[in-house]
Amino acid sequence: MRDPIIEARDVIKRFGEITAVNNISFEVKKGEIFAFLGPNGAGKSTTISMLTTMLRPTAGKLFLNGHDVTRNQDSARKSFGIVFQDPALEEELTAHENMVLHAVLYGIPKKEQAKRIEELMQLVDLWERRDLMVKTYSGGMRRRLEIARGLLHHPKILFLDEPTLGLDTQTRNLLWDYVEKLSRHEGMTIFFTTHYLDEAEEVADRIAIIDHGNIVATGTTKQLTKQTGTRTLEEAYLQLTGKTVRDETSLSNNGLNMRTATRNRNLRGN
Ligand SMILES: Nc1ncnc2c1ncn2[C@@H]1O[C@H](COP(=O)(O)OP(=O)(O)OP(=O)(O)O)[C@@H](O)[C@H]1O
Ligand SMILES: [Mg+2]
Repeated sequence: MRDPIIEARDVIKRFGEITAVNNISFEVKKGEIFAFLGPNGAGKSTTISMLTTMLRPTAGKLFLNGHDVTRNQDSARKSFGIVFQDPALEEELTAHENMVLHAVLYGIPKKEQAKRIEELMQLVDLWERRDLMVKTYSGGMRRRLEIARGLLHHPKILFLDEPTLGLDTQTRNLLWDYVEKLSRHEGMTIFFTTHYLDEAEEVADRIAIIDHGNIVATGTTKQLTKQTGTRTLEEAYLQLTGKTVRDETSLSNNGLNMRTATRNRNLRGN
């Protein structure tokens, strides 16, 4: 068995009265693609913030690549890249300048910079528009740039918090193809959240489902469907969380959600 590269032990996070994360433990093995699923407010982003040193846990231990995240922040930080749920780009710089800035911050060798930046900007179809200021970018363009930037330094672990929210189907497929390639060829560990359960079913090696700050199930799609006596990950998820996907994704507006909503209605009708 491979060693865990991400480990959470008895982790709790409280914000005043609110317990966002309520004593969770899990492990992710090196090279795994791990999906962290759950309804809005379940504690997914809070967990990612603790793992990536942006929030301190109220109790418990977190390890990244063997480094204690609260005691050894600098070493932990070198192990990962992150794509945030809310984009954090430099508005007054061009897209290309944002990429170069990130490459410099992460010490990517100068002779590799240009090639990697072009490769990634081509991947997300922004190369032609690389010299525009980010403030002129649409929401989807910003998201694509964020993703390209998070992949730039080829980190050991990549955290993706709802990376495909609001992306069109082509870009979404390209993104997951690339992420899978990075994982398989370079042994990169991927920890991601999504509200699109078909993505998780397709891409993830293993899945954890969190609800109200508690992990309610962990396993492969096969294990989760077996455990719940269901046929698809979506059905297993509904059974475990008692919520419909439609309720959670009603704010975003795209074809996939409409399909999911229709499917859920059909499921409930049965
Ligand atoms: N800085 C904060 N201060 C107070 N409460 C917070 C803070 N951050 C998160 N919370 C609360 O903690 C809970 C978990 O939030 P979190 O952002 O982790 O959910 P999530 O699973 O990422 O949801 P979503 O799918 O909507 O992104 C929520 O009740 C939220 O309101
Ligand atoms: Mg979140």
